[in-house]
Amino acid sequence: MLVNWLLVLVALWCVRYYWSRRRLYQCARQRPSPFALPFVGNAFYLFGHSRDIFDKVFKFHSIFASPTPLWLGSHLFFIIWDPQNLKIVLNNQNCLRKSFFYKYIEDAIGRGLISHDVPKWKRHRKMIGLIFNKKVLNSFVEIFYNKSLILSQRFEKLAGENTDVFDVFSCFAVDVLMQTGVGVDANAQTSDCHQAQWFNTAKDVTFIRMNNIFYHFDFIFRLSSYSKQFYQAINNIETMIGSVVKEQIALNLKQNTFLQQLIEASNGDDDFTETDLIEEVITFLIGGNDTVSTTLSYTLMVLGMYPDIQEKIYVEVKNTVGLDQPITHTDLFDPDRFGSEVIRDPYSWIPFSSGPRNCVAFKYAFMVMKVAIATLIRNYQFSSTYKNVADIKFQANLLLKPIDGFKVSVQLRK
Ligand code: HEM
Repeated sequence: MLVNWLLVLVALWCVRYYWSRRRLYQCARQRPSPFALPFVGNAFYLFGHSRDIFDKVFKFHSIFASPTPLWLGSHLFFIIWDPQNLKIVLNNQNCLRKSFFYKYIEDAIGRGLISHDVPKWKRHRKMIGLIFNKKVLNSFVEIFYNKSLILSQRFEKLAGENTDVFDVFSCFAVDVLMQTGVGVDANAQTSDCHQAQWFNTAKDVTFIRMNNIFYHFDFIFRLSSYSKQFYQAINNIETMIGSVVKEQIALNLKQNTFLQQLIEASNGDDDFTETDLIEEVITFLIGGNDTVSTTLSYTLMVLGMYPDIQEKIYVEVKNTVGLDQPITHTDLFDPDRFGSEVIRDPYSWIPFSSGPRNCVAFKYAFMVMKVAIATLIRNYQFSSTYKNVADIKFQANLLLKPIDGFKVSVQLRK
């Protein structure tokens, strides 16, 4: 008798569950999609090594039309590659909330701008968006340049080698972000670059966790070997930033930093707590580190593949900035991205995402990268064994990485 009642209850729960989600099923049914299994959906396509995931997902592109539904367990995703579809989604006010996957990012960096729920995000975005203004950004250029000079010295040791440049850029990014973010000279390029290791561990383990359904259960993750490294790295980052933030509030140093700007912007807002401050600063540091170092590494690889474009950039830098003078904000040139005659859909190139939830710091990122590349190209030539982007094999991570690393050959310019 009890069993019968239990079965009825389970059946009722299932009906209610499916009824409440009927719109999702209707939406998914409207589009052709890959074969899905009960309960796991399409998740089995993503099992295996991270280096295969990109290829597997990329193949859908030649079989299905955009947007393609993909079920990961009970979660419905759409893979989108049509720029016009992207335009609609990224600008839709109903698409401001981040997916459940961001919970794992939150475990790494706390609740910062990247993962906030919509009401809090709106308040913080307005405040932080105003901080990345022209005046503040221009005042950071001297730091970008001084740190780029150290970067350039480090490249001297790489001259004549075919080497993975990611770690060098990662330490450069730590130096720049720590100095402009919290006013601390991390000396990451000239001494121990442990902050980059913490940031990279936090980010790599976050991706491993997102990608392995078993690690979605906290108690299983805590038993894994990754857990110790992860919490150690997070603890180190939180302790470092926590003490810097407390110190700067206490000393009221009025430095020209992201932190100081945020303290001033949030002054008088009782809802903006010290924890908010710490979490937004950590988001600034971690959000900026991997993105800047990965993009700079790709830039050198691609310049190495296209020597003619590399030469055009060298000539442009030589003509606008000269070969020895410091680079200032008035020199920040506008590279001829795709050649003037090619007209592209603006949504076919969105490295910083687009719409209201795009990268809040894209101008900052462009400035750092332009100064770094201009400084390097004055002294070095880069080449690559790859002849075309299509030759590179990618593996999935929070950001896409080449399986064989960011290999670049560095030569001193005569
Ligand atoms: C080349 C460098 C960079 C690239 C390619 C990049 C790319 C992106 C992308 C694609 C997003 C959207 C993420 C999403 O939808 O979940 C984003 C958001 C964000 N980025 Fe960047 N980013 C870069 C540099 C930076 C830097 C240097 C910082 C900080 C100093 C930063 C801070 C942020 C923050 C806080 C958000 C969240 C914005 C919001 O939700 O309102 N990024 N970035």
